[in-house]
Amino acid sequence: MTVSKALEGVRVLDMTHVQSGPTCTQILAWFGADVIKIERPGEGDATRSQLRDIPDVDSLYFTMLNSNKRSVTLNPKTEAGARIFKRLIEECDVLVENYAPGAIDRMGFPWEKIQEINPRMIYASVKGFGPGPYEDCKVYENVAQCTGGAASTTGEIESLPLVTGAQIGDSGTGIHLVAGILAALFHREKSGRGQRVTCAMQDAVLNLCRVKLRDQQRLARGPLKEYPQFLNGGFGNAVPRAGNASGGGHPGSVVRCKGWETDPDAYIYVIAQSGAFPALARVIGHEDWLNDPEYNTPEARLHKLDQVFAEIEKWTMTMNKMDVMATLNPLNVPNGPILSMKELAEEQALRDTGTVVEVDHPERGKYLTVGNPIKLSDSPAVVRRSPLLGEHTDEVLRTVLGLDDKEIHAARLQGAI
Ligand SMILES: CC(C)(COP(=O)(O)OP(=O)(O)OC[C@H]1O[C@@H](n2cnc3c(N)ncnc32)[C@H](O)[C@@H]1OP(=O)(O)O)[C@@H](O)C(=O)NCCC(=O)NCCS
Repeated sequence: MTVSKALEGVRVLDMTHVQSGPTCTQILAWFGADVIKIERPGEGDATRSQLRDIPDVDSLYFTMLNSNKRSVTLNPKTEAGARIFKRLIEECDVLVENYAPGAIDRMGFPWEKIQEINPRMIYASVKGFGPGPYEDCKVYENVAQCTGGAASTTGEIESLPLVTGAQIGDSGTGIHLVAGILAALFHREKSGRGQRVTCAMQDAVLNLCRVKLRDQQRLARGPLKEYPQFLNGGFGNAVPRAGNASGGGHPGSVVRCKGWETDPDAYIYVIAQSGAFPALARVIGHEDWLNDPEYNTPEARLHKLDQVFAEIEKWTMTMNKMDVMATLNPLNVPNGPILSMKELAEEQALRDTGTVVEVDHPERGKYLTVGNPIKLSDSPAVVRRSPLLGEHTDEVLRTVLGLDDKEIHAARLQGAI
């Protein structure tokens, strides 16, 4: 196997901050692109100092979103900074940004100008909303979860809308943006031209909630049989929250396991898939269901799901969740123990695949991060620590832009770097 970086030779001008944009450029960096993160002199990405666990040391919020990047401090709003920024546009292949709508334009670099400076440039942005009434709004993760349909469809029945811990608004949009950038890079091979790539957080969340828009249309034709509301109260005119019901083709539920009284994660998700139902019924001691017309078809069981899962739970409560999993997997019964962050951090298999990685940082020491979940056979990702603020300013100005000591000194005097 010849190992080489998939995006070797691609240079990314990284004007991102907080989470959505940094997620995108971190993946590009793992694929081997040279990602040059531009940060405001003296302050840097606001997340460097947010949710700090060690005084004066870059937070885990920052370090876990900015691996494998170089950091350059630069203020494009100064005269020397604008010159350097223009030179960076000339030398880079992709510009990624997720500032507030219009921020890069206000720096003096609207898309038309960027394209004029470098027609091969791919200019990729994350914004909260696409064109329309909300296009000027600033948006964070939970706003996107609420406006993209996730919150209205997540939560217990007849209870508050809930946001999820999975960062589908920020990281979800960043990952969508990666796909757009790679498509534009591929297209540039043929056309010789870069293009604008935009991804709105509302759109990305809605894309991830596509099955709920499916259900919205099904609802117009009749009740949604797999939703608990089918038995317990009926439907309104919009897709409701359905607790932990699968909402897919097969009924599923979270059930308690041994130790649930004291362990908040002693639960497992069990899917009563029709093909595996006989094996599931047997293992929980309900072979009788297999000849009982009240239970032996998926349609009959639809009316008895509460009882079915109550019986499954009686059985799961006799074992710890990993033993339940070990018993159900050979029976082809799909299931998922509720794994805590502690358990995931300690999971050896995730360490072995590089999905959970420990890296060393000069100021914080060792820390854990999530490595690249996208595995390429010939281009494995090697995760390196995040850069210190401005760690690579001189190096990039010298080696990428060819600036000399005098020019760098002059820019520094102006506060441009
Ligand atoms: C995330 C967000 C809400 C944060 O808002 P914010 O903290 O107020 O920051 P802004 O994006 O408005 O940027 C603040 C300013 O910093 C400036 N700035 C950024 N980098 C700079 C640099 N290197 N040098 C000088 N100024 C810089 C911007 O030009 C902007 O100034 P302006 O308002 O005068 O134009 C906003 O950036 C946003 O909506 N982004 C798009 C959606 C998004 O990605 N959200 C998810 C974030 S995880």
